Amino acid sequence: MAAIRLRKKRCAGGGAWDTECSESFPGETHIADDPHKRLIVAIDGPAGAGKSTIARSLAERLGIAYVDSGAMYRAVALWALEAHIDLDDPFRLEQLAKQTRIEFIAPGNNVLLNGEDVTTKIREPRVSDAASKVAAVPGVRRAMRDEQRRIGSGQSLVMEGRDIGTVVFPDARVKIYLDAHPEARAERRANEIGASVEEIAREMIERDTRDRTRAEAPLTQAPDAEYVDSTGLTLEQVEDAILKIVRARTSNGKAAN
Ligand code: DC
Repeated sequence: MAAIRLRKKRCAGGGAWDTECSESFPGETHIADDPHKRLIVAIDGPAGAGKSTIARSLAERLGIAYVDSGAMYRAVALWALEAHIDLDDPFRLEQLAKQTRIEFIAPGNNVLLNGEDVTTKIREPRVSDAASKVAAVPGVRRAMRDEQRRIGSGQSLVMEGRDIGTVVFPDARVKIYLDAHPEARAERRANEIGASVEEIAREMIERDTRDRTRAEAPLTQAPDAEYVDSTGLTLEQVEDAILKIVRARTSNGKAAN
């Protein structure tokens, strides 16, 4: 079974955990202040729509944890590549996923795979490609889903991925489907990693098709998710749009799910 621990950061100079920090985001609702009111914000959508940036900053504003579920699939894929496991062998991949120990370390949300910091390595193109193959294996998805639910069972969080609102947390109070035109997504990703737009666009189409057409938990918008198109919008504009949805759906932080 994958073991995932979220180590929380401490407030600067203080002894409180980050879910209790309020000085950085004055005026925001701190849902995490009340341990009995859990809030799950599910953000799904294709690569390059801006999910990670938005999910991370939203979690900070709300004072709750942030989980990048794609990093979990990337970590399993990296281990499979390093252990020379055949990516067409679903049984071995499932075994591997069950044994994977992944930790997210605040404040930078660094990713540890079996104790090793793999934050940079999991972003390599070979890992991106392997991750979308590994993510199509039902046994791998089951192991990741169980772990994601376990993480969300005891705390409020923003989790981003492809199946968070549809499969992992179908009862999440807030569900966002963040999208953008394919050209805008390729451009954003290319800028992030310093590659050519054409090259990224080609790879993205291939991975997107795999993520959308796989049999198990394909990328799709949950019927009760709000659709947000980030094409041509600044980060602040997308953030504002999403904060509005969060506020509307949580009645100012009084959500129970
Ligand atoms: O979001 P990302 O590009 O880091 O995700 C890496 C791969 O994992 C991508 O091919 C989609 C897949 N994934 C998934 O199938 N389900 C999730 N909840 C998150 C990611």
